[in-house]
Amino acid sequence: MIGTQDNDLDMSVEEFVMIRDFILERSGIYFAENKMYLVKNRLAKRMEELQIRTVRDYFYHVKYDLSMREFNRLMDLVTTNETSFFRNEPQLMAFSDEVMPILIAEKMKQKGPRTLKIWSAGCSTGEEPYTLAIQILEKLHSLAGWNVEIIANDISEQVLQRARQAEYSGITLRNVKPDLLTRYFIPVGEAYRIKPDVKMMVKFSHVNLNDPRQISMINGMDVIFCRNVMIYFSDEVKKQLVRGFYNALRPGGYYFIGHSETLHGISKAFKLVYFKNALVYQKEAGPQTDQPDNSPDTDERTAAPASSGAQRAMEMLARIKPVTAGK
Ligand SMILES: C[S@@+](CC[C@H](N)C(=O)[O-])C[C@H]1O[C@@H](n2cnc3c(N)ncnc32)[C@H](O)[C@@H]1O
Repeated sequence: MIGTQDNDLDMSVEEFVMIRDFILERSGIYFAENKMYLVKNRLAKRMEELQIRTVRDYFYHVKYDLSMREFNRLMDLVTTNETSFFRNEPQLMAFSDEVMPILIAEKMKQKGPRTLKIWSAGCSTGEEPYTLAIQILEKLHSLAGWNVEIIANDISEQVLQRARQAEYSGITLRNVKPDLLTRYFIPVGEAYRIKPDVKMMVKFSHVNLNDPRQISMINGMDVIFCRNVMIYFSDEVKKQLVRGFYNALRPGGYYFIGHSETLHGISKAFKLVYFKNALVYQKEAGPQTDQPDNSPDTDERTAAPASSGAQRAMEMLARIKPVTAGK
């Protein structure tokens, strides 16, 4: 029987490559050779539960499970789900204080219901999309006349379940300012639960970012956040995914990546905009075609300063009469 100790499970390099390549092919997540112990440790307990003795046997077990149940379980094990509310504040300030005013001003010029579509790709336990929802409520004051859709997805069912529960405690809340904690959370014992009006703004679903068919069904996004997700992918998968994001954005839409990530060598399709708080990618406005699959994937377009439209938008925002909302 396999024990839970690291050294109780034998995994040959050949077996590591077998399971590693399978994970890469299905999910896009790439484990270099120096991650062999990490993979082994994460598999050991699950194999013990299943009473499977060799990694080769586990590989066949997961590969031929057509229900995908074991694959989903494997994703729970091998994904890194670290996240927190208001993670990387400068980027979020760029979103709320610079991008949002531009979007609001653009939408205010439109007739009919104003729709705002945001995508949190690789949302983990939900802190990122809920943070965006809170920021939107803070900015709009009221959702009256607005149709705000935040879609959030992940490959791990386990984290999605926690995101839907929307109950948080401890270190993940460390960057939530006390007034926001009061307005948007309900204390539940030691924990805090997201209030229903914030919760209903976010729709969680299981999406594999390495599945171009699933990605191609998402479109018209005003903003995409995909932060700290692509670092786990091979370059080939990154290129395919960034093409998918480009096509999912509406012209003029914005794309946030993790602050330690880059599109260098991955895509040149986006314009890089220098906002005061952070650099953000943008799909250029105007008539667009889908980014062809064979377009060269070199550096991004020449960086541009944020337009003075941001200034005008902020002035316009300041004129919106604040009302109590989401509180
Ligand atoms: C480190 S977390 C980042 C969470 C959040 N975006 C943030 O920056 O705080 C990365 C998330 O990406 C998810 N992920 C990894 N590969 C994925 C894939 N192929 N499809 C969808 N989600 C994936 C993981 O399950 C994990 O929850």
